[in-house]
Amino acid sequence: MRSVYLDYNATTPLDPKIQEAMSSTTAASFGNPSSVHHIGRAARALLDDCRYRVASLWQCKPSEVIFTSGGTESNNLAVFGAARSLASKGRHLITSNIEHHAVLNAFKHLASTEGFELSLVPVDSAGFVHPEDLISLIRSDTVLVSVMAANNETGAIQPYTDLSHICRKRGITFHCDAVQAVGKLEFHSIQQFGADLVSVCSHKLHGPKGAGALFCRSPLRLSPLLRGGAHENENRAGTENLAAILGFTLALEHFVRPSVFDASLLCPLSRRLIESLADIPGVDFQGPPNNRLANTVVFTVSGWDSISLLAALDLEGICASSGSACSVGSLEPSHVLLAMGLPRNVAASLVRFSLGRDTSEADILQTIDVFQSIVSSSRLPE
Ligand SMILES: Cc1ncc(COP(=O)(O)O)c(C=O)c1O
Repeated sequence: MRSVYLDYNATTPLDPKIQEAMSSTTAASFGNPSSVHHIGRAARALLDDCRYRVASLWQCKPSEVIFTSGGTESNNLAVFGAARSLASKGRHLITSNIEHHAVLNAFKHLASTEGFELSLVPVDSAGFVHPEDLISLIRSDTVLVSVMAANNETGAIQPYTDLSHICRKRGITFHCDAVQAVGKLEFHSIQQFGADLVSVCSHKLHGPKGAGALFCRSPLRLSPLLRGGAHENENRAGTENLAAILGFTLALEHFVRPSVFDASLLCPLSRRLIESLADIPGVDFQGPPNNRLANTVVFTVSGWDSISLLAALDLEGICASSGSACSVGSLEPSHVLLAMGLPRNVAASLVRFSLGRDTSEADILQTIDVFQSIVSSSRLPE
């Protein structure tokens, strides 16, 4: 059976050249960057070099780059770290109800256990946050706002420039989860998000898993999640995973400018997919028609549930998703589609195809064929 991988928003394969560079680093630079001897100093030199290279690509100071274990940790460090360090100034926090759980659950935890108040900014039926809705929630004690750059489930690109501007004007710290945006949207510098804190993750752009970074604009200081040594400018204790950091650095250098998710190649493929799926009775596209990631095609199928559809696709070799990879195996409908106002039974029939670097026309044709036969062969009772 021929495999077709259409789940690039969940993760991407590690680029072979990056893998090679990582293996030789693991062997050659095994030292602890905190050791004072020459083997430790060689590891420290490589770590410093990676930080400088990321900073030069991002156009920020090296001290503003905090290496982490990936998107979840970057988001947790941003939300917990900023809220706790700003708590003396105010305890009101705002996020949107379509954030990845790595943001949403961090905020909910702060509200339920640490005395913060949380407001959730709604989205419209296409999945967009509106700047005026954010403005209406801001209070004199609001200290932190977090809205993602691009949604992992619908691909909706949020108006982060307007949102960050609103926050900056009012002296409110703004965090942007750019995990799905970096490598997919045109990138000039990390400053384009206008945010004080920006989360980035390596395995969404052909880098290794377990690596990522948080941009933290100086002079903002975070309360660290991991306490111990003074690593990462006292933001994250623990001996650095040098090979993963190098892999992440290389992924940023090779796959961000220009974006590895090349819209000029992906748009015709996703258009082809959309046009053919649109002919299938019961298929309804979700998310916005415009201002969305070029690689993401998302829809619901009346009379079906996601788990049955994903299982049937998988039996035919096609890897798709029902949204966030973290929700796989759960029958809970997508919180993103619920936030967009869809009824639970409709939200529970979500299928997401996310295309990437190696997606071919043959993959798309096979997917259309398989999907048509699944949906026409048996329809679950409504
Ligand atoms: C928007 C967004 N934020 C955060 C994450 C979490 O990243 P990771 O699972 O690599 O920690 C993901 C992963 O799907 C994501 O799509």
